Amino acid sequence: MISSRVRNLKESSTLKVNALVNRMKAEGKEVFNLTAGEPDFPPPEAAKKAVIDAVARNDAKYTPTAGIQELRDLIAARTNGQQKEVASTRPWNGSHVVVSNGGKQAIFNAVFALVDSGEEVVFGAPYWLSYPEMVKAAGGVSVVIPTGAANGYRITPAQLEHAITARTKLLILNSPSNPTGSVYSREELMKLGEVLAKNPGIWVLSDEIYDRIEFEKGEWASFLDANPALRDRTVTVNGLSKSGAMTGWRVGWSVAPETLTPALVSLQGHTTSGICSLSQAAAVASLKLPSSDFEPQRLEYLNRRNLALEVLRKSAKIKIYEPRGAFYLFVDCGALLKDDQDANGLAERILQESKVAVVSGVDFGAPKCIRISFATRPETLREGCERLVRFLDSL
Ligand SMILES: Cc1ncc(COP(=O)(O)O)c(C=O)c1O
Repeated sequence: MISSRVRNLKESSTLKVNALVNRMKAEGKEVFNLTAGEPDFPPPEAAKKAVIDAVARNDAKYTPTAGIQELRDLIAARTNGQQKEVASTRPWNGSHVVVSNGGKQAIFNAVFALVDSGEEVVFGAPYWLSYPEMVKAAGGVSVVIPTGAANGYRITPAQLEHAITARTKLLILNSPSNPTGSVYSREELMKLGEVLAKNPGIWVLSDEIYDRIEFEKGEWASFLDANPALRDRTVTVNGLSKSGAMTGWRVGWSVAPETLTPALVSLQGHTTSGICSLSQAAAVASLKLPSSDFEPQRLEYLNRRNLALEVLRKSAKIKIYEPRGAFYLFVDCGALLKDDQDANGLAERILQESKVAVVSGVDFGAPKCIRISFATRPETLREGCERLVRFLDSL
């Protein structure tokens, strides 16, 4: 009964863990939840007030599919600020922007609009778990490049060159990364760009949703800041879910060249239309705030990362990658698993026996790893990590 396109999609494992955590909580059990894929900070006061004002003035009509003009202009300006040479030569304006229901819809739109049946989409593993499912839904083929902690969970130009075939249509990059927290430097992005320069048919989707959450200031660069020459075949995706602490208000966007934007608008126009008008009011207010307003959050994430690292490093049984951005720690538990075991069973035992919820790396393409989120209160984080270390060292 279900179409093959949808039948083959996997349920999100992060949502599955959350269901289990909620069940345990409902049974009155204490759970140290380190699975959160979202900030625990409130949205900016200005954004909250903007929503209230919008409600008061009956702002309840359809908006243009791609978003209201003021918001699209602000997004274009934010993007120009991160892509200096593009901004000074052929800058983005509001017409290049499509506001979508979170970064997720922006990525889905781009994959759907670009990838034809049988065409290949290249990305590195560990990956954000929706990439392969979106590619599958579009009828495309995922070509996954393995990376490990030893190379900082980043693909190399040689690996990219090797992965490219006559059918390659799209490269997806995600920096800072979920689940590893790796960040590509400007130089590394330029080297990848050199490979792409030799392969003119390939598009790039740069998922920059964690852009403001970097731990070494200035290390992160937008893909097009490093590769302005690729402007006409790059889609930059971003949003306010993570760095703006408003996941539930569903504000994401794509900034894409004029050859692609109309297709994105058309696709969204026949699926969801413009996003909630109240969320757009919140986004306008948030984007008018100076980026320095978000600096305390970055520093808090940095403190929490360091706290978690300090506790987890007491365990001799695991290998921990020190993240450069986002709010996750990716931990290699390979030494604790037999050849035929993956981290699903381990994550379940951690939850049942030590009351700590983490996410298995299986659906991220890293079957021997677990992901620990530090987007949670420091007390919960410390206790959760201490329990985790005690449990892992007892195995
Ligand atoms: C790497 C990555 N890209 C995109 C998204 C989608 O974000 P949004 O909640 O804005 O749809 C997420 C959310 O978890 C993510 O981790």
